[in-house]
Amino acid sequence: MPKSLISIHDFSKDEILHILDIAADFEKNPNQPILQGKVIATLFFEPSTRTRLSFETASNRLGARVIGFSDAGNTSVSKGESLKDTIKMVSNYVDLIVIRHPLEGSSRYASEVASVPVINAGDGANQHPSQTLLDLYSIRKTQGRLDNINIDMVGDLKYGRTVHSLLQALSLFESPQFTFTAPKELSMPDEYKEFLKSKGIPFKETTELMDGLNQSDILYMTRVQQERFTDPMEYEKVKNCYSLTASMLGGAKENMKILHPLPRINEIAQDVDETPFAYYFKQAKNGMYVRMAIISYLLGYR
Ligand code: CP
Repeated sequence: MPKSLISIHDFSKDEILHILDIAADFEKNPNQPILQGKVIATLFFEPSTRTRLSFETASNRLGARVIGFSDAGNTSVSKGESLKDTIKMVSNYVDLIVIRHPLEGSSRYASEVASVPVINAGDGANQHPSQTLLDLYSIRKTQGRLDNINIDMVGDLKYGRTVHSLLQALSLFESPQFTFTAPKELSMPDEYKEFLKSKGIPFKETTELMDGLNQSDILYMTRVQQERFTDPMEYEKVKNCYSLTASMLGGAKENMKILHPLPRINEIAQDVDETPFAYYFKQAKNGMYVRMAIISYLLGYR
């Protein structure tokens, strides 16, 4: 089976650092057509702006061509074709598959039936490992290190797949300190807290946004994931749980940076964008270089 990226655990710490180094090289020189003749598929069964477009831009900058869809309703899935058959078919056409799907575990399943590498671009509330690698890249770029990072994860920690992958990745580095800021209904799932406990990594839990903010190197904001709620009333109760404004940042560490996987709804006010703490748009741009690195690594070119 070719090497895929489904969970952040699929890469060792050395591989993660290697990807970040390749990405830094691509950032210096973003047009390196080393994948001419290759074809990459982006199969998006769920909406996306950044992930799909940055994977496609990354592929184009590497000289590869891209096929795919952003609406499975226009494919034979709407006639009842299974995920297995879809993946087996697309495997026949391309050299690498990028997939986003609402079902947890779907990307792992796709990698097991595909004959080419598969990148998980988000499977339900489970994992989003390419986002994690770009988050790590952004943390290292702004803080100069990945060890001893104090990070406050805020918002929907239950359904937010990016915090699940990032927590696991940071556990590979020295002395991470976590604060989990969420309403009780959206708190960090037990399996991730048990994971940290098993590694002896400390974490605090709070419902108050100001509790962890001033100690943090990274404030990792997330949106409440409306699409994962089965009961709309439950979403209504928590949808406005946090709203970060510029006036709340007076006591923040000088080099603190605010990350957000985006899209944002109302959890970060527009006035924060003008502060030196805002890094989320640069973070999204970093995603392009990191995805160039992931693709070229999985295809054996770096
Ligand atoms: N960060 C992220 O996954 O954004 P998109 O949903 O726009 O791809």
